[in-house]
Amino acid sequence: MQSLTIETPTAVDTRLAGEVLGRNARGGQVLALHGDLGAGKTTFVQGLAAGMGVQARVTSPTFVLVNDYDAGRNLHLVHVDTYRLSDSSGDALDDAATFGLDDFLDDPDAVVAIEWAERVAPLLPADRLDVTLSGVEGAPDGRVIRFRAGGPQSEALLAALAEYVAATKKPAPTQ
Ligand SMILES: Nc1ncnc2c1ncn2[C@@H]1O[C@H](COP(=O)(O)OP(=O)(O)O)[C@@H](O)[C@H]1O
Ligand SMILES: [Mg+2]
Repeated sequence: MQSLTIETPTAVDTRLAGEVLGRNARGGQVLALHGDLGAGKTTFVQGLAAGMGVQARVTSPTFVLVNDYDAGRNLHLVHVDTYRLSDSSGDALDDAATFGLDDFLDDPDAVVAIEWAERVAPLLPADRLDVTLSGVEGAPDGRVIRFRAGGPQSEALLAALAEYVAATKKPAPTQ
């Protein structure tokens, strides 16, 4: 499955989408998160962490750039927020090199979730799951989440979410 769009009417739904992916994510998976401040990127990652089995509370890494959480079973979640990196793209990449983003991205036991991933675009692998969150006009809590898989590992992961969505979708109301 290469792409999927879902609507999440509440924060709980966004978290649940992350959780389903977390349950199915394998080491080496990269999730590139996009969306404005407050779109729900961190909320999504909190669900991802829960699904992976992370026990620790996941907070926004906006001020620390990266948090590393043990998920047990030789898996860990690396949660990166590039928001505070220097503005020009060249500097952002230098900063990313400084905190070792490359090494995290090469770690076969890491699931790496990156907020504002577009700022480090040249470092990202092709096989990643792009996750774009946006608001819904007239619905303060509503969000649309677009997923795009860039390679086989991400496609398999997205298929698991699609299966979950199909299985839990309420039947269309009949007139
Ligand atoms: N459908 C929704 N999905 C995600 N977050 C939502 C939703 N509705 C309301 N929210 C709220 O919006 C805020 C999103 O914040 P956060 O996840 O930190 O965003 P970001 O990391 O993108 O800046 C949270 O307070 C969350 O409870
Ligand atoms: Mg955030």
